[in-house]
Amino acid sequence: MQTNPYISAIRPYQPGKPIEEVEREYGLHAIIKLASNENALGPSPQALLAAQKALMRSALYPDSRSFTLVQKLAEGHALPHDHFMIGTGSDQLFMLLALVLLNTQANAVISEYTFPTYAIAVHSVGAELRIARASSNLGHSVDHLLEAVDPSTRVIFLDNPNNPVGSYLPGREIERLLQSLPPDVVVVLDEAYYDFVDAPDYVSGLEYIGRYPNLIVTRTFSKAYGLAGLRIGYGVSHPPLIELMKRVRLPFSVSHVALAAAEAALSDTEHLAKTRALIWTERPTLAKNLAQCLPLVLPGAGNFITARTPIPAQDLFQRLLERGIIIRPLGAMGLPDFIRVTVGLPDENRTFLNALKSVLE
Ligand SMILES: Cc1ncc(COP(=O)(O)O)c(C=O)c1O
Repeated sequence: MQTNPYISAIRPYQPGKPIEEVEREYGLHAIIKLASNENALGPSPQALLAAQKALMRSALYPDSRSFTLVQKLAEGHALPHDHFMIGTGSDQLFMLLALVLLNTQANAVISEYTFPTYAIAVHSVGAELRIARASSNLGHSVDHLLEAVDPSTRVIFLDNPNNPVGSYLPGREIERLLQSLPPDVVVVLDEAYYDFVDAPDYVSGLEYIGRYPNLIVTRTFSKAYGLAGLRIGYGVSHPPLIELMKRVRLPFSVSHVALAAAEAALSDTEHLAKTRALIWTERPTLAKNLAQCLPLVLPGAGNFITARTPIPAQDLFQRLLERGIIIRPLGAMGLPDFIRVTVGLPDENRTFLNALKSVLE
């Protein structure tokens, strides 16, 4: 078999450990999963109802143009329909962008600590991946990103807020990046955690879409809307880029169930408000309590907290697993002394903190 050598060189993505696997391996029940930044409140109830109704139409192919969802998004963001692209999660959009923008002669720039799917997308098409050093707080540095750009750079992937660190770049830094780049370098601004930011100087990239045709902003229904299992997200950019992405997206990849759920979720403002309220009360409490037993807790803008551990993070992960709690050790993301913990329900957070204290005793 002759395969592409750059595919065999890809480091497989390491997902958070599924609940069912821990139940099987450890014979435990009532597992608490704080490993994948999912919504602790579950899906929007309105989305669930819509998904159930949509199941009745399962014999038919979905609308490949996602017309109704695009219409809702276009109204919500006050932008034309042709600025939107729906994908099976935002991660499909990163892959499509790699296909559209990169080749074996081009490169993509990412930051040192960032969402691992970008690297998979870049390597899948045999392009070079250039890694910009993080800033001193482990977050993104616009200066270092700009230094990493060369004449073969076609795209920068940037998550804001950033996973796994949890920091964010303020609007003025995003604008400085956009102003400083040549117009043929596309900025993919991944706003998966947009809904959880409460910092006054944070500005969504959607504010800049009008001025920068080389910008694409991605959002997901996996986090604040609680639909991670249905796989649906979207990108917003100028029509030329969107149109090329549509050419390479397989026509029926987004299911009609996901489309129906996403449409309903957008109208469920109550669920979104509850989700944000949960994060905005529990996130600071979790961070404060973690700071009492861990040497460094990073300020988090998403629905998770990242912290340095006094013992190897992998060991801590393992010992919590034995107590039925799944967190994320960050060795695979280049931070072997750090863990990432999703903000859960108050009870889940308390159980996790008690288990952590007993492990560290
Ligand atoms: C920064 C970031 N972007 C994108 C995603 C993936 O989102 P989706 O479920 O829409 O593929 C995640 C998921 O953890 C993430 O952390």
